[in-house]
Amino acid sequence: YLNYRVPRTRKEIYETLIKGLQRLEYRGYDSAGVAIDGNNNEDKERFIKLVKKRGKVKALEEELYKQDDLDSKTDFETHFGIAHTRWATHGVPSAINSHPQRSDKRNEFVVIHNGIITNYKDLRKFLESKGYEFESETDTETIPKLIKYMYDNRESEDTSFSALVERVIQQLEGAFALVFKSIYYPGEAVATRRGSPLLIGVRSKYKLSTEQIPVLYRTCNIENVKNICNSQMKRLDSSTCLHAVGDKAVEFFFASDASAIIEHTNRVIFLEDDDIAAVTDGKLSIHRLERSASDDPSRAIQTLQMELQQIMKGNFSAFMQKEIFEQPESVVNTMRGRVNFESSTVLLGGLKDHLKEIRRCRRLIIIGCGTSYHAAVATRQVLEELTELPVMVELASDFLDRNTPVFRDDVCFFISQSGETADTLMALRYCKERRALTVGITNTVGSSISRETDCGVHINAGPEIGVASTKAYTSQFVSLVMFGLMMSEDRISLQKRRQEIISGLKSLPEMIKEVLSLDEKIHDLALELYKQRSLLVMGRGYNYATCLEGALKIKEITYMHSEGILAGELKHGPLALIDKQMPVIMVIMKDPCFTKCQNALQQVTARQGRPIILCSKEDTESSKFAYKTIELPHTVDCLQGVLSVIPLQLLSFHLAVLRGYDVDFPRNLAKSVTVE
Ligand code: F6R
Repeated sequence: YLNYRVPRTRKEIYETLIKGLQRLEYRGYDSAGVAIDGNNNEDKERFIKLVKKRGKVKALEEELYKQDDLDSKTDFETHFGIAHTRWATHGVPSAINSHPQRSDKRNEFVVIHNGIITNYKDLRKFLESKGYEFESETDTETIPKLIKYMYDNRESEDTSFSALVERVIQQLEGAFALVFKSIYYPGEAVATRRGSPLLIGVRSKYKLSTEQIPVLYRTCNIENVKNICNSQMKRLDSSTCLHAVGDKAVEFFFASDASAIIEHTNRVIFLEDDDIAAVTDGKLSIHRLERSASDDPSRAIQTLQMELQQIMKGNFSAFMQKEIFEQPESVVNTMRGRVNFESSTVLLGGLKDHLKEIRRCRRLIIIGCGTSYHAAVATRQVLEELTELPVMVELASDFLDRNTPVFRDDVCFFISQSGETADTLMALRYCKERRALTVGITNTVGSSISRETDCGVHINAGPEIGVASTKAYTSQFVSLVMFGLMMSEDRISLQKRRQEIISGLKSLPEMIKEVLSLDEKIHDLALELYKQRSLLVMGRGYNYATCLEGALKIKEITYMHSEGILAGELKHGPLALIDKQMPVIMVIMKDPCFTKCQNALQQVTARQGRPIILCSKEDTESSKFAYKTIELPHTVDCLQGVLSVIPLQLLSFHLAVLRGYDVDFPRNLAKSVTVE
């Protein structure tokens, strides 16, 4: 956060930083830290105040408020603070490993970093050979040390801050979003990214000088880069910068995610890979060494439509619970303006120009991780049916491990709530290199996946903050079904089926409400189960994905062992687990697999298993053998999974609460997995 000519107390600045961190806590939360100007007195030696704490942001906040001089009005023209919440990749969670990382004990340069530096060992060796002493186990610490090295070895006294950063990033390999602060450049901020998201919010009461910032390129020989950087900086003038007209007050917010800054401004600039953004004297400029992949010569200020209350918890005890209960509306938002129930047509605006190409393709490959992968598993069968194309579903990491053959006439879908998952993003780049058509299905406008794919669908589920994905899953599910419907519009033989599915979509929100009304019953079930160590979830066909997804929800937030089992595989191993004690949930719906599921049910009860059955309301057959039943409204077979997953979402939530765990912040997990 950096303000220019906006008088703020230290407390106000802390509040801005801490609130921003709290909104980002879902990205990682094992430690947090802040760096802020220690003073701004020309007569005294400048210093940067660094406060870091292991644990959640709350712990950092308490530490900060123990400090003195919180209410002092600063006489700063510019006041710049950086803060970070960490999810450990290199080095255990601790204050020393948390960010900001620093160049030396005097905090001459401090840096916050998202991502991973893959060549940090080489850099560290080099810097150690030059006498730099490392204090943390992180990859990040190489960055402030490297910039200090560049500073100590600069040729000219007036080397700019951004020129130093430019030299630093030429040495870095891996993924990063970085913000730098230094005692040598008071009131100046420099930020850059490669592979990790970064945006800049802009707020001013006054008119801004521009809506488009031209990007300055340095197409030059790397050897000469230092000199050119310096001369280039001198060429910066008002027409290449963004500022409040007439040197008026302006505030800049650098963040990895809009939720951190949305309460201050909805005017944002998304940076591209290798952009270097610098604020000097209240003026923001963007430059880079080479033209960007998108070849866009400017970065526009965009206005986001996200509202703050959307990202607040409301009356619910946890974001996850709120998000489960939002599903009647979130699926409507996914379909809004796309499904025409009168004419039984579906139009996904982001795909319409590519439809012909998609129809001609060799196969569809759907790639994702975790819950997003399960959405692909859940819809594979209906997509095969409606598109009449072979459909492969792939876990992004495994897809890459196998160097899977991909061809120009493949269409590759990338499913990701955050749009930032590193494995999925790398799979996307892999498919792009092989010239396949790439389609993004994400929940985050402006995310890397949505920007790097050729076309796509925004699922419009609204911000999902609970680490365990719920409403994004059902919206991804509905989006993929809509895609199938759009592809099959002119297939005469499929019209009846399409009609049936579209009617199913229409009644989905009401049916979800009906399922949510079972919450109390599911809570009672959780009371019976919460002390168990294990929970099996079994089903097949359209509901196999429900079992995988239900089991994932249970393990990630309750820490119980849980396994999603394909009922057809029961005899091939898992049956050995069944006895009187082992809790088993079976998903048995009135669909083409019903009879086969009955066989599985017999096999379980014959081993004295006591199945809890999720079944259709009118199913008297299954309930005869059930220890307990949860009865669900019946919908068309390929949409049943949207309904059958909800009791398992609710069950995992209640189990986690009863076991005393923090539902929104499960241990060891982060909402957005931006590392491999
Ligand atoms: C589980 C969960 C994760 C994510 C996975 C992919 O509840 O949320 O399994 O689904 O990390 O994340 P996205 O969808 O953001 O790519």
